[in-house]
Amino acid sequence: MKTIYLDNNATTKTAPEVLEAITPYFHEWYGNPSSAHSFGGQVARRLKEAREQVAALLGAETEEIIFTSCGTESDNTAVMSALATQNDRRHIVTSRVEHPAIKALCSHLAGRGYRVTEIPVDGDGRLDMERYQQSFAPDTAIVTLMWANNETGVLFPVEEAANMARERGIPFHTDAVQAVGKIPIRLKESAIDMLSLSGHKLHAPKGVGALYVRKGSKFSPFMIGGHQERGRRGGTENTPGIVGLGKACELAGRRMKEENTRVKALRDKLENGLLAAVPNCRLNGDPSNRLPNTSNLSFEFVEGEAILLMMDEFGICASSGSACTSGSLQPSHVLRAMGVPFTMAHGSIRFSLSVYNTEEEIAFVLEKVPFIIEKLRRLSPYWKTEKRANAAA
Ligand SMILES: Cc1ncc(COP(=O)(O)O)c(C=O)c1O
Repeated sequence: MKTIYLDNNATTKTAPEVLEAITPYFHEWYGNPSSAHSFGGQVARRLKEAREQVAALLGAETEEIIFTSCGTESDNTAVMSALATQNDRRHIVTSRVEHPAIKALCSHLAGRGYRVTEIPVDGDGRLDMERYQQSFAPDTAIVTLMWANNETGVLFPVEEAANMARERGIPFHTDAVQAVGKIPIRLKESAIDMLSLSGHKLHAPKGVGALYVRKGSKFSPFMIGGHQERGRRGGTENTPGIVGLGKACELAGRRMKEENTRVKALRDKLENGLLAAVPNCRLNGDPSNRLPNTSNLSFEFVEGEAILLMMDEFGICASSGSACTSGSLQPSHVLRAMGVPFTMAHGSIRFSLSVYNTEEEIAFVLEKVPFIIEKLRRLSPYWKTEKRANAAA
């Protein structure tokens, strides 16, 4: 059975071009880039090139890029650095809908005496900018707001939010793990001080990420050890991963237009097709300000997990809520923060596409999913009650 992979916000396939670029770094160019010999030096030169490729995608400078092991490490490094370099400041501003890489870290810090202000969102997942403006305190150490939400794809106005933080002298970090490679980013022209990204969300392998730190920012390392990354992140570099991340960034830059035209059109076709074919179905998230690849739909009176299992029988991969939170029966914290009604939140499915998806795949999903929902609703006592109530009205 063919796999139809619509779970690209969870992870992506390593691009064949990336795989080709990294393979020699396992067995041919396996030297340590810190070694004095020219064998290691060759690898160091390739890392420099990868740094240039990442910086180019972000509109940043090479010395502003620190390679890490993942998005979570980048997020943790950014927040912990802001706290370590300003130890008289004990307040953090964030949002209610962050990924656990920020959300759980902030809860952990709240347990250690830091004050955390979580800015709410409206029913469409948009950040409450009025509440944001009121959130700053004299001891705010950092603002950390995601650029694109992993569950709904909703984009936060991070550039505007960064300007407001800068006016008050507060460092601004954005978790751009879902945004990088999907929307244009020009850090040089923004007031963003730190930005996190992760390789496996943009067709590089798992186990590599990067943190952008604006030149001149105060910085305190999270991983303390050797002098790698100019003393900002100890540990021998994941050279194949970094080479892969560089190549993936170069590819993403070239494919940005396709992502925002063909992939977006496929996403819209899937979304509009399901909304038209399935009664009591709704879109979660601001329709006008979203990533081009993401669609979060709620199917009322069915369980998301049941939909996933039945889609799985047809080889269709998607997600209910975020992959990191699935397994719990609670609806996702993102949908709860948006006030999505309980009966809708439980039946939410996130479809996330990539450049590797095709028209045929979307046509197949449009044929199968309405049938799956109908079948599940026939088993749902809530749906039967709803139908009776509608018939009586
Ligand atoms: C918005 C966001 N931030 C951070 C992460 C964590 O990235 P990683 O899996 O590379 O640690 C993810 C992964 O799902 C994410 O979607």
